[in-house]
Amino acid sequence: MAGNHNRPMFAPLRNDTFLRACLRQPTTHTPMWLMRQAGRYLPEYRATRVKAGNSFMGLATNVPYATEVTLQPLERYALDAAILFSDILTVPDAMGLGLSFGAGEGPKFAHPVRDEAAVAALQVPDLDKLRYVFDAVTSIRRALDGRVPLIGFSGSPWTLACYMVEGGGSDDYRLVKSMLYGRPDLMHRILDVNARAVTAYLNAQVDAGAQALMVFDSWGGVLADGAFQRFSLDYTRRVVAGLQRHKDGQRIPVIVFTKGGGPWLPEIADCGADVVGLDWTVNLGRARAAVGAKVALQGNLDPAVLFAPPEAVAREAVAVLDSFGPPQRADGGWDGHVFNLGHGISQHTPPEHVTALVEAVHAHSRRLRNPG
Ligand code: CP3
Repeated sequence: MAGNHNRPMFAPLRNDTFLRACLRQPTTHTPMWLMRQAGRYLPEYRATRVKAGNSFMGLATNVPYATEVTLQPLERYALDAAILFSDILTVPDAMGLGLSFGAGEGPKFAHPVRDEAAVAALQVPDLDKLRYVFDAVTSIRRALDGRVPLIGFSGSPWTLACYMVEGGGSDDYRLVKSMLYGRPDLMHRILDVNARAVTAYLNAQVDAGAQALMVFDSWGGVLADGAFQRFSLDYTRRVVAGLQRHKDGQRIPVIVFTKGGGPWLPEIADCGADVVGLDWTVNLGRARAAVGAKVALQGNLDPAVLFAPPEAVAREAVAVLDSFGPPQRADGGWDGHVFNLGHGISQHTPPEHVTALVEAVHAHSRRLRNPG
């Protein structure tokens, strides 16, 4: 009994560079991973997807397949973190909105939330409906066997609300913004339910084995100044405040990524997150000077760089690392940089270009720490 109690459930971590950078601790190189690193640009992903009935949800709800595709990019590339293979839209699906992904199209909800009755009916889902996600987290953590840490994630309350009200993707956010300005009471009720759901969902991922968490506020940047703070950031802050931050003696870093959030960087850096994700419009050096003493930064190569030849990819990666600069400060302390893209990798990316990117980031970031 006693021996069992003391035996760790998972293998010890062999590469903690990602967690160290998130916590602004010294690192030998700049850790990197890629948003959407498991996906259609990889032929092995497309093959597994076919086995899963050629459907995204077929992959995401099948624990062995979700485990397999999460590990695929790590077999090819020396990435420093794994991210759970799932989607932000699993939460509204569990609320009963009826998620589907049409062939070659974006996501669709059969029952979007557009009127007072639908808003009133909305509830925090029974987490048992998301059991497949937590089972995938545990399975992936076991399969990683301590190789690199596993990141769990969720959409932000606002980004989920965009999909829930629009019923899918949108060019102009007409429906969700109509509600925001016309019936802010309804919008706040959706965001309140989402914040409670997301907090419980992320904490359950930590219980299942996630070692870091990321909140994707992909559509925060479409909001007006003022609206962003009230309808996106306030709810993200509430989520972050409700998260379990320690597990088995380890800090669980939280990353908040607001695409288009550059104008609000100081406010986002105050939301309680350990790391702020940046898109490619932000200058990393200026961001570091503004908030680098408070949070680590993650980003921010333009994903379109990966369409260019490997030499150009390497050059642009060096430019991103140089814009952050050597993470050790003149006073001897360390700031944190996690290299990533400024948004998800495109399905049209040639996989060999990613090889060039990973090599350039690791090699140049070592040179940055040992000049001369
Ligand atoms: O980063 C990873 O590798 C983990 C997996 C992951 C997926 N989606 C898998 C996925 C993550 C973290 C997401 C997050 C997600 N999903 C976001 C936030 C990040 C961002 O990109 O802004 C959003 C907005 C979504 C919603 C979503 N899911 C859309 C709009 C689409 C269709 C568009 C597309 O890229 O295909 C999806 C489907 C989806 N989610 C795919 C993958 C690999 C493609 C699925 C397929 O195989 O058809």
